[in-house]
Parts: sequence; structure tokens; C-alpha cells
Amino acid sequence: MSLPLSDKQNIWHPYTRIRQGELNIVIEKAEGAYLFDSDGKRYIDAIGSWWVNLHGHGHPAIVKAIANQAAKLDHIMFAGFTHPPAIKLAEMLLEVLPAGFSKVFYSDNGSTAVEIALKMCFQYWHNKGRMKSKVIALENAYHGDTFGAMSVGGRSIFTQAFEPFLFDVEFISIDDGQNVVESFKNLVEKGNVACFIFEPLVQGAAGMNIYPAAVLDELLSLAKANNVLCIADEVFTGFGRTGKYFSIDHLQNKVDIICLSKGLSGGVLPLGATVCREEIFQAFAEESNLLNDGEGLNIRTFFHGHSFTANPIACAAAIASLELLKSKECTDSISRIEKQNQEFVQKIRSNSYPTISTARCLGIILAVEYTTSEQTGYLNQIRDKLYVYFIDKGIVLRPLGNIVYIVPPNCISDEDLAFVYEAILSFQP
Ligand SMILES: Cc1ncc(COP(=O)(O)O)c(C=O)c1O
Repeated sequence: MSLPLSDKQNIWHPYTRIRQGELNIVIEKAEGAYLFDSDGKRYIDAIGSWWVNLHGHGHPAIVKAIANQAAKLDHIMFAGFTHPPAIKLAEMLLEVLPAGFSKVFYSDNGSTAVEIALKMCFQYWHNKGRMKSKVIALENAYHGDTFGAMSVGGRSIFTQAFEPFLFDVEFISIDDGQNVVESFKNLVEKGNVACFIFEPLVQGAAGMNIYPAAVLDELLSLAKANNVLCIADEVFTGFGRTGKYFSIDHLQNKVDIICLSKGLSGGVLPLGATVCREEIFQAFAEESNLLNDGEGLNIRTFFHGHSFTANPIACAAAIASLELLKSKECTDSISRIEKQNQEFVQKIRSNSYPTISTARCLGIILAVEYTTSEQTGYLNQIRDKLYVYFIDKGIVLRPLGNIVYIVPPNCISDEDLAFVYEAILSFQP
């Protein structure tokens, strides 16, 4: 049986409609910004394999780090044991993150990084003897697919089947100008809000919705004044995507917890991290006057962990990736892509193409919305046509309805970027 047919027969793919006769493309090789299918066709990986890949596929420094680590220590449970790559990576993360963060809790994907952040907040208040159960999140947010992460995500077709099982969340619209500040103020003043979670500056799955730092800063200062913990979900925006190491680097105010994954390992191996301030960690530390539960565990303990927490090989990849991210070559590449994105957006705005209604960018993220008579967004019918059009041209893009976006690996060449821009402009519905 051919590979695509065997795939069809035996495998259930994520976020994929199950349709008669439709086969997945078999990718056999990847190098730099390119993917190669089993017929040898080359594709530009213009979305960095679902927003994960930072430095291109098969980067020699990351490949070497993985091989060396695999030969030395493949895996060890992370309770009662630790290992050099996890220790070094935590030191490096705390060094590049804004001041104030203090403890790294590892996991293995973005949804779990978010789940952990939420549980940390709920148990923080529980350990302090305060019952705070409300969460504030942004409309149209996406934080992952586990139940906690879905609960704090905007209600949509993604979550429809699970709605009875999701906990109650107060949603505010970040695009609501000053009104959002007023709504937020009313909510936090009630005193029962445990935390506020948000994708800082770019709501990825919402269609690369880019919003100003100033509004978020106002919300953060209100949160602080009202004892609400703030969680920045930088699973997508982290590691240079917005032009700075982290999206929160654009802000004046500090957050309490940051969630990281995707680019953390350079996009090569599954790894997540939830990093918090010392005050949060201290609420989980044992107090001598607290009783144990009889099994040697303390009621303040954070009961959360995964079999592959802090996998040493993934940590080694992340160390190599962070070293690359700090290099001049990489920062120059990010600025190069950022500048070309800005010029492309400018070109669209000044030429007013009839097929394109709007374009925006931040850092290496660029989004273009195609004109449509239907409702805009994820379910827009133009999506399939766009997808096939770009695949035929040898470009992997995954449109969100009528919105196409690029999040390329930092190594993408100027020629390939120009080719992608041209393809975006040439599409005819
Ligand atoms: C902002 C954000 N948070 C969380 C997630 C979930 O990450 P994962 O797919 O690794 O579970 C995503 C995935 O796209 C994301 O964009």
C-alpha cells in the first residue's frame, strides 16, 4: 500500500476534516526553510510548521546537541531527579526573560504550559486561604486543547461540543478601545478574580489579531491594583516572533506567569515551560506548622507532572536554539524579515488591491485578509481554495478562513519571502 493510503487507513490527524478520498502530503525530508515531499516536490515552510520552527529545519547546532544528549542521557523522571540540560536551560531562560521571574516548571506542550499556569493560580489562592475562582480571558483567545486551556479560549466551533464541560470565564474584547478597560475594571473590583490570561499583542489563532501594548498595559496595572494574577501565554509569540525576545518585552507592566512552548526547543522537540515569580512559588513551599496528609506529601504541594517533564534531549535542543536566537545572525534575520513585512504591508495599503481588504504585521508575523462577501474568519469557504493555491505553488500556508499569515523560519531567504509575497498578491478568488 502507498504511504498516503496507509496513512489514510491507520492514522487520525489533528484539525483535519475526515473526507472521502482526501490524502495527506507525505513529507520525507526538511532542510532550512524547505520541506520535501515523497515525490521530491519542494515547499517553503512559510508558517514554520505550525509556528514552532525558529532557525530552519535540521539546523546543525541543534542536530548536534540532540545527538550528543541522546548518547549521554535520554530521559529521567523529573521528581527527585534533575539533570544538567534542564538546569542550564532554566538559567538561560531566566536570563533572557524580563526581570522578576524566578522558577521554571517544565512540561511538554503549549496546552499543558497553560494548564499548569491556571492550576498554579487557583492553588496559589487556595494555599493562601482565599477562594478566588473567576478567570478573565480575551474574546477569540486560543490557549490550547486541554479542558482548562479550552475553558479560557473563546467559545467557537473548536469548543462547541465541549461547552457543558468548560468552566465559566469572563470574556472581554481587547478590540473594544477604552470600553475594555472599563469592563475589566468592573470585573476585577469584585475581588473574586484569580487570574487574567491573554496572548500578549497577537491573538494567533484568532487570525493574527494584533493589538496595542498600551491597552494591555492599562489592564495589567488594574489587575495588579486588584490582586489579580496575570498570565502571559507566549506559546506562540515567544522567542523573537514579535521582533523582541518576548511579546511582554513591549510592555511597561510586569506579569506573574509566562507560558512557553513551540519555539522553546527551536520547534524541534516537544517542550513546554511555565515560568513564575518567586512569590507564587513561595505559596507552595512547606510551612512547619502545616500538617502532612499522612503520606509524606504536603497539602501545599503542586500536584502536577508529566512522564516527559523536562526531557533532557528536548532541553538540549532548547539550549542550542536559545544560543542561536541570541546570535547576531539571528537578530539580524528577524529585523530583515520584520522590515520586509512592513514594506509589504505598506505596499498593500498604498496600492489598494481589490482582492485584499487589509494587511498587518508585527515582527516576523504578517497577516493578509482577502476580500470576501461571506462572514470573515475561520469558516470562510475561501480557505480550501487558498490552501490548494499555495500548495500548488510550493508554499505551505494554513489559512484561517479568508486570512493568510506567514510566520517563517528566521533563515528564510529574501528571494523566498518575495516569492511568498508575490503569490499572496497574485491569488484570484
Ligand atoms: C497562544 C497559544 N497557546 C497555546 C497553544 C497550544 O499549544 P500546543 O498546540 O503545543 O498544545 C497554542 C497553539 O497554537 C497557542 O497559539
